[in-house]
Amino acid sequence: MTYRVTLIPGDGIGPEITVQTLRVLQATGIDFEWDEQLAGVAAVDATGTPMPDATLESIRVRKIALKGPLTTPLGTGFRSVNVALRKEFELYANVRPAKTFIPGGRYENVDIVLIRENLEGLYSGIEHFIRIGNDPRAAGESIAITTRDGCDRVIRYAFEYALKNGRKKVSIVHKANILKVVSGLFLEVGREIAKQYAGRVVMNDLIVDNCAMQLVLKPEQFDVIVTTNLFGDILSDEISGLVGGLGLAPGGNIGTSAAIFEAVHGSAPDIAGQNRANPAAQMFAAAMLLDHLGELEAARRVREAVECTVVDDGIRTRDLGGNASTSDFGEAVTRRVSRVS
Ligand code: NAI
Ligand code: MG
Repeated sequence: MTYRVTLIPGDGIGPEITVQTLRVLQATGIDFEWDEQLAGVAAVDATGTPMPDATLESIRVRKIALKGPLTTPLGTGFRSVNVALRKEFELYANVRPAKTFIPGGRYENVDIVLIRENLEGLYSGIEHFIRIGNDPRAAGESIAITTRDGCDRVIRYAFEYALKNGRKKVSIVHKANILKVVSGLFLEVGREIAKQYAGRVVMNDLIVDNCAMQLVLKPEQFDVIVTTNLFGDILSDEISGLVGGLGLAPGGNIGTSAAIFEAVHGSAPDIAGQNRANPAAQMFAAAMLLDHLGELEAARRVREAVECTVVDDGIRTRDLGGNASTSDFGEAVTRRVSRVS
């Protein structure tokens, strides 16, 4: 069986971590036919547009992609291609697992899957400046849109995910005390859905600021978290910090007709091109892709190889306190995956 998958190496550290991830995937023995496509800054340079039709067409046909990080200009410039891809393919659930595997760190026993609503809220992109007097940018307005259907499908996804993966509890994270409409609706729908899973999955709800504090104080109380777009963006970076940082955190953007797997982190321009980025997050994202394809054994082997490389072999990139390069790490993980195949 050959899997035909769209590959977007991305920019910044994207190409470096992608090359190493492809080596590891190759070592699993699973047959991939990669359709390499451009997006973001690399696409603007080559084609004049950040999201070329060929890229969209490739994902439409293959329904699955492995994506490197894409730079989004701050303030001005083109809108986020990451957000645009999620919207284009209605990838409504962003699944971000984080699990402690490095012993002796600050946090033991963290095993959290954050599921982030991926299309709505403040990421709707409906925003504008407001002129007051002579100042055309005297004020700004961003419109957060939350729909009942949008809340329903992502919260239902979270409960189904919990059942399917043997998880016991779903925490609904919101700000319904202040944002009574957009966040209130999310909580209301969440409470309704939770009733349908009573006796099978425990539900609790927390206000986001309390959740941020609880995560640092007592992360082991969390199992699955489901939350809205902006809160999920922020909390998932926080959670990655509990288990060793962004270099270890993968994510899957899941819809009914396509799925895109990527690291949680961005293009890390501060270390791009220096062969020092940690490719582990992208490798874990590739493992999620393997799971999605039903290649559970290969996924397990990739995860185990990354973990053993860090823990048993002590081969670590700088973000984890070591001095291995991106390619050293890729080499070591590839060797481990090959050894057990
Ligand atoms: P970032 O995640 O790129 O970097 C934050 C910090 O973490 C930096 O110090 C960076 O060096 C470090 N870091 C990130 N990944 C690492 C890795 N694999 N190994 C070692 N260190 C790593 O976030 P930042 O700087 O806020 O954003 C940079 C660009 O990335 C922006 O243009 C942003 O829009 C974009 N971005 C793209 C994402 C995506 O493609 N899904 C997600 C997040 C940000
Ligand atoms: Mg983010």
